[in-house]
Amino acid sequence: MYTSYFKGLGFYVPDNVVTNDDLSKIIDTSDEWIQERTGIKERRHVIPGSEDSTTSMGLKAAKIALENSGLDKDEIDLIVFATLSPDMYFPGPGVYIQKELGLRNVGAIDVRAQCSGFVYATSIADQFIKTGMYKNVLIIASELQSKGLDMTTRGRGISVIFGDGAGAAIIGRSEDLNTGILSSHLHSEGEHAEALSMTAPGLGSRWVTDILKDNDPEDISYYPYMNGTFVFKNAVVRFAEVINEGLKTNNLQASDIDLLIPHQANLRIAQFIQKKFRLSDDQVYNNIMYYGNTTAASIPIALAEAHQKGLIKKGDLVVLAAFGSGFTWGSVIIRW
Ligand code: UT7
Repeated sequence: MYTSYFKGLGFYVPDNVVTNDDLSKIIDTSDEWIQERTGIKERRHVIPGSEDSTTSMGLKAAKIALENSGLDKDEIDLIVFATLSPDMYFPGPGVYIQKELGLRNVGAIDVRAQCSGFVYATSIADQFIKTGMYKNVLIIASELQSKGLDMTTRGRGISVIFGDGAGAAIIGRSEDLNTGILSSHLHSEGEHAEALSMTAPGLGSRWVTDILKDNDPEDISYYPYMNGTFVFKNAVVRFAEVINEGLKTNNLQASDIDLLIPHQANLRIAQFIQKKFRLSDDQVYNNIMYYGNTTAASIPIALAEAHQKGLIKKGDLVVLAAFGSGFTWGSVIIRW
C-alpha cells in the first residue's frame, strides 16, 4: 500500500503588475469597486508582445518544483497539466513540458477542468501513485488569460478579476499511510456549463489576439462570459459541500484544519467559507489581493507561496478546495 505526498512545489508569476488604477484608465471601473466586490488590489499580466505563454510559465514553475523536490528529471513518471488557456487548441501543453524539460517519453495528460484543474490534477496523480503504477508525477497548472479578455467597459464584470501565472508540484510515493493525500473528491454539473464559459471554438490563447482583430467587434463569443452572481451563489454552496465531504470521509472536523487553501475566485467567497466553518484568519490562506483569480493556477500558487512562507508544517492538515467553470468542483485533504 502506498500514499502520495507533495514532494516539491513551485510557482511563477509574470513581473508585470497591473493595479486596479491601471485598469480604470482603460475601462470604466475603480479601485474601490474592485476591492469591495473581489478583494483584488492588483494582478499580473504578461507583457503584451512578450514570448510568455501558458506553457513557458508552467515550465518555469515546474523547474522550481522539480528542484525543490530534489529529484532528477528522469525520475518523473507522468505529467499532468491543467489549464483553460492552452497555447494551442491541440496538442495541449503537457507534451511541451516533456520536450522542454527533456523528460523520458512519459505520458502527458491535459486536464480541462478550469478553476478546479489543479484539484483534478492532484487527484489523478494520487490515483496513479496509490495503485503503485508511478512513483513521481509532475502536476502543473498555468494560465495566460490577459490576452483574451474583453478590456473594454463591456467586459468589466469579468476582465478585472483574472490574472496570469503558474504553479506546479511533484507528487511522490510514500509508504507512510498516515501522511500525504488522505482523499480527494471531484464533482461536475454540466447543466450550468455556459454560466462561466467561452463558447466560440477556441484556437488557443496564442491566437486569441489575432482572432479578435479580425472578428466582428460585436461578437463576444470569443471572450469569457460569466453570470457572476449565479456563479457566486453556486460557489459558496459547493465549496462548503465538498470541504465537508472531505472532512467527513476522514472523520475530521473543521476545527482540525490547519490551513485551508481555497481557489482564489473572490475574497468574499473565501471569507464566506471561513465564517461558515468558523476558521480563524491564520487557518485560511488568501493571495487573490496580489494575483487576482488565476483559475487553475490559483491553488498551486497559493500552496507554494504559503509553504515558502513557512505556514505549512509537517503534520498539518491542509485542505484544498476549488469551484469553477463547468461547473466543476473538488477538494483534497492532506496530512502534510
Ligand atoms: O473562478 C471561477 C469562479 N468565479 C467566481 O466564483 C466569481 C463569482 N462572482 C463574482 O465574484 C462576482 O459576481 C463579481 C465580482 C464577478 C461581480 O460582482 P457582483 O457583485 O455580482 O456584481 P454584478 O455583476 O451584479 O454587477 C453589479 C453592478 C452592475 O451595475 P448596475 O447594473 O448595478 O448598474 C455592473 O455593471 O456593478 C457593475 N460592474 C462594475 N462596476 C465597476 C460590474 N463590473 C464592474 C467593474 N467596475 N469592474
